[in-house]
Amino acid sequence: MLILGIETSCDETAAAVVEDGSKVLSNVVVSQIDIFAEYGGVIPEVAARNHLEVMMPVVKKALKDAKKTWDDIDAIAVTHTPGLLGSLLIGTLTARTLAIVHKKPLYAVHHLKSHIYANWLHAPIDEKDKNILSGLPELASEDEGLSPVKTGAKNPSPKESLLSFPLLALVVSGGHTQILRMDAHNHFEIIGTTRDDAVGECFDKVAKILGLPYPGGPAITKAGKTGGKNRYKFPKPKVEGLDFSFSGLKTAVLRTVQKELGLPINHPSHDLKNHLKEAQIADFSASFEKTATDYLLEKLEKAYEMYPETKSFVIAGGVSANELLREEAKNRFGEEKVFFPNPKFSGDNGAMVAAAAYFEIKSGVKPTDPYKLNILPRSEIK
Ligand SMILES: Nc1ncnc2c1ncn2[C@@H]1O[C@H](COP(=O)(O)OP(=O)(O)OP(=O)(O)O)[C@@H](O)[C@H]1O
Ligand SMILES: [Mg+2]
Repeated sequence: MLILGIETSCDETAAAVVEDGSKVLSNVVVSQIDIFAEYGGVIPEVAARNHLEVMMPVVKKALKDAKKTWDDIDAIAVTHTPGLLGSLLIGTLTARTLAIVHKKPLYAVHHLKSHIYANWLHAPIDEKDKNILSGLPELASEDEGLSPVKTGAKNPSPKESLLSFPLLALVVSGGHTQILRMDAHNHFEIIGTTRDDAVGECFDKVAKILGLPYPGGPAITKAGKTGGKNRYKFPKPKVEGLDFSFSGLKTAVLRTVQKELGLPINHPSHDLKNHLKEAQIADFSASFEKTATDYLLEKLEKAYEMYPETKSFVIAGGVSANELLREEAKNRFGEEKVFFPNPKFSGDNGAMVAAAAYFEIKSGVKPTDPYKLNILPRSEIK
């Protein structure tokens, strides 16, 4: 089954053609990162206008790269929730129109399901991904239809690299931080969630304090390479159960920077970067990254204690590209049990939307009416 997946929930305009929920035939992503790097964050109206400009060329390129025509496509899948209102509108209006014109069934997909299902995608490794993946095995064999990308085990046999239910999914992205249980495909139960900021947002805000570029995640990793991860101790927010809080951690970094520089707590945060030395930025980056990843994984360990029958752990969303998080997760839960998406599918893309739709279809979900599909800027995964 060939599905065209369309994603526009935030600042990436993306489309992809995926076969049977796992084999990526094309994956086109136009990112607006360069535009928003200047502002240090996304401006919703600007994002929507940019989606409008590139949406159709992106869809056409996805078909062309896959060497497919509309006749070959079995279904269209699109992100309809959650996300920025204007951005979601462009993607869904495009998908609705294409579904009507080309007489294809339309599937409306929740963005976090897509991030989770990015773990089932196969794709050839790009040259530029080789550094990130060095030392890791090649992807599981292409003919293992539903097996996910297994990054970590030395030489996993196709069987070993299969994801098994029940599993725990840790979704770590720009707008969400959640732990979910999955007993089977398309069965989700949220067991932990952030009470304030998302972890990706926290990376972005801490980067801003340190004068590092947007998006903050990769910039903090890069800056922290020469820093001491135990140089600064930031308290981990005490939130009961499996819930998270990240606004306190961001404030702890802010206060520690002010203290280190001998400046008062009312000193404007945007000016701190002008006083920081490179070595201090490195130490703050490394210490923050370590605290944030430990905090995430301590909660995941707690979830494992509560659900010891868990067979696999799936880490998903933009922050899942983080190398330290990957290493630490493998150390804590065992290489054979932990799954991450190929880094090129960690952030927003159309392939993961197609994968999520495929498993919805396999679970009996019916197509949606293209004349009636609505968007929802906020909603929980169901
Ligand atoms: N290597 C990395 N380490 C840590 N964080 C990272 C890394 N790469 C990207 N990120 C973070 O991931 C976030 C973007 O992820 P993603 O695209 O999944 O979020 P989003 O789509 O904006 O939000 P959501 O998926 O919740 O709607 C940014 O906050 C970015 O800083
Ligand atoms: Mg996302």
